Amino acid sequence: MRRMVAGTRLHPAELILPVFVKEGISEPQPVASMPGVVQHTRDSLRKAAHEAAEAGVGGLILFGIPAVKDGRGSAADDPGGIVQQALGDVVAEVGDALVIITDTCLDEFTDHGHCGILTPDGDVDNDLTLERYASAAVAQARAGAQVIAPSGMMDGQVGAIRAALDAEGFAQVPILAYSAKYASGFYGPFRDAAECAPQFGDRSSYQQDPAGPVGEALREVRLDLAEGADAVMVKPALAYLDILRQVRDTVDVPVAAYQVSGEYAMVEAAAANGWIDRERVIMESLVAIRRAGADLILTYWATEVAKRL
Ligand code: PBG
Repeated sequence: MRRMVAGTRLHPAELILPVFVKEGISEPQPVASMPGVVQHTRDSLRKAAHEAAEAGVGGLILFGIPAVKDGRGSAADDPGGIVQQALGDVVAEVGDALVIITDTCLDEFTDHGHCGILTPDGDVDNDLTLERYASAAVAQARAGAQVIAPSGMMDGQVGAIRAALDAEGFAQVPILAYSAKYASGFYGPFRDAAECAPQFGDRSSYQQDPAGPVGEALREVRLDLAEGADAVMVKPALAYLDILRQVRDTVDVPVAAYQVSGEYAMVEAAAANGWIDRERVIMESLVAIRRAGADLILTYWATEVAKRL
């Protein structure tokens, strides 16, 4: 009876698996703060993509960790950069069986760990950064990315990337915008996984304040849509279900929610201690995110959950 009258259902095709690939390693490296998640080699990434596709997962979002970082994040748009190389591998491996998305940002590629180019006094230069994002997005599209997901949170990033993609012949490549992205403590474990913790300061000058007006999130969503976003995202997920619901009720494009690294780590840690029922809590959290209005969910459990579904 409960199955028959359920108001919320999960389907593997709505799940997106975030994956990390690191340049220059010969074995996958476990991420200590995210048990079960690894930094992939190019080869182990192919296998993970294959496994996700077999399980019916809808898409994969790729993050890369280059061997060499610098002030401008040169590896981000280098045609030989790790993300571009891994994209070729994954597209060859799974073809059309998974939607291949790339995160477009600079923090994994800069030596200072910020999401943009710095001014001499250590602020992020919004407009100089836009040129770098546009160039990285084009490099990713050229390497086979099927969706571009800008996460750096500079003003105007969607418009700049859209214009560059269109100019380079990638008008068909859609943009999934991280629109309502909060400056969150829940990203802690990700910064180990992607080796991108800021070396000074924090990201509060470009990410949203959790206590800020809700209208700010809605405005960011509207701006991104006006600039050409095809789908929008709320991030993190569980602590922002109210935002997710309001965004869902406001727009007519697909809405994604990112169940981030800290959400994953909390459940894994509590479960490892025997304090919660791991599988039950994973499903309950995903149902809650879906119920709050997410059409798409980015989750590190995507393959596992898809198999269970
Ligand atoms: C930025 C980016 C971050 C995450 C996704 N893209 C880190 C940040 O903003 O500091 C976090 C994802 C997670 O915590 O799982 N490139």
